[in-house]
Amino acid sequence: MENDIEKFYEVALDLVKQAGTLIRDRLNEKKSVEIKSGDIDFVTETDKQVEQLLIDGLSQTFPSHNFIGEESVAGGAQCSLSDDPTWIIDPVDGTLNFVHGFPHSCISLGLFIKKEPEIGIIYNPNLEQLFTAKRSQGAFLNGKRIHVSDVTKLSDSLIVFENGTSRDVEKFKVLRENYQTLVPLTQGMRSLGSAALNMTMVAMGGADVYFEYGTHIWDIAAGELIVKEAGGVFIDPSGGDVDRMSRRFLCASTQSLADELCKKLVQYYPVPRD
Ligand code: IPD
Repeated sequence: MENDIEKFYEVALDLVKQAGTLIRDRLNEKKSVEIKSGDIDFVTETDKQVEQLLIDGLSQTFPSHNFIGEESVAGGAQCSLSDDPTWIIDPVDGTLNFVHGFPHSCISLGLFIKKEPEIGIIYNPNLEQLFTAKRSQGAFLNGKRIHVSDVTKLSDSLIVFENGTSRDVEKFKVLRENYQTLVPLTQGMRSLGSAALNMTMVAMGGADVYFEYGTHIWDIAAGELIVKEAGGVFIDPSGGDVDRMSRRFLCASTQSLADELCKKLVQYYPVPRD
């Protein structure tokens, strides 16, 4: 198994780096944008090409592996996680940033086996940030070990949150309420526009906690392992275990910080599961 993971990792990393050039080379070009699920949920030609490159390359080498890819699911493919090796792909996480040329977007690729994360790769080619993790082997940024912060209290924390891609009025009420509650209790709130990169901020100790309602499994699959391998926690915003298809999660540097935040949050109304 260990050798298999090494092989899976090497092949995946090589493909991610190749795909990264597509994002980097086109960052400042004008993109033609399609609207996906509505509101500001965008897709570009690059999202589709990156996903195809990864799926083609991985399935040539590992024909029995399964895939959950953001754009394939948008095109009608199933989003189901079985015990079989499954690559979970967000080809461009932070598509809105990419459309605007804001250099904070990435490829997020996770491998799950028996429904547990084994490999996580998040690559922002615009800023040459490569985050990697293999289960039980630590988390790394450009090959250097990273660790979450030691912050345990909200009053010492920098929080990341996102508005997401929906313009739902009910969701905005909840976002506003959480924002009003948290600003005076914390040292600051940030919103960078890529769920995967937000998770790496927690993993590298640049932020202490990040939560979001409305994410999909492809936004968080690689980040889960990177945060955990960096010593952080990954839970449901109500405090329990995460249901990975439930489209809500919270990751934090420490359990006590996560517990304190969970007690303050207004829980978002249920969204349809992945
Ligand atoms: C989105 C981004 C955004 C987050 C959304 C995601 P996409 O992913 O990560 O920051 O708020 O929930 O859907 O559409 O750019 O791949």
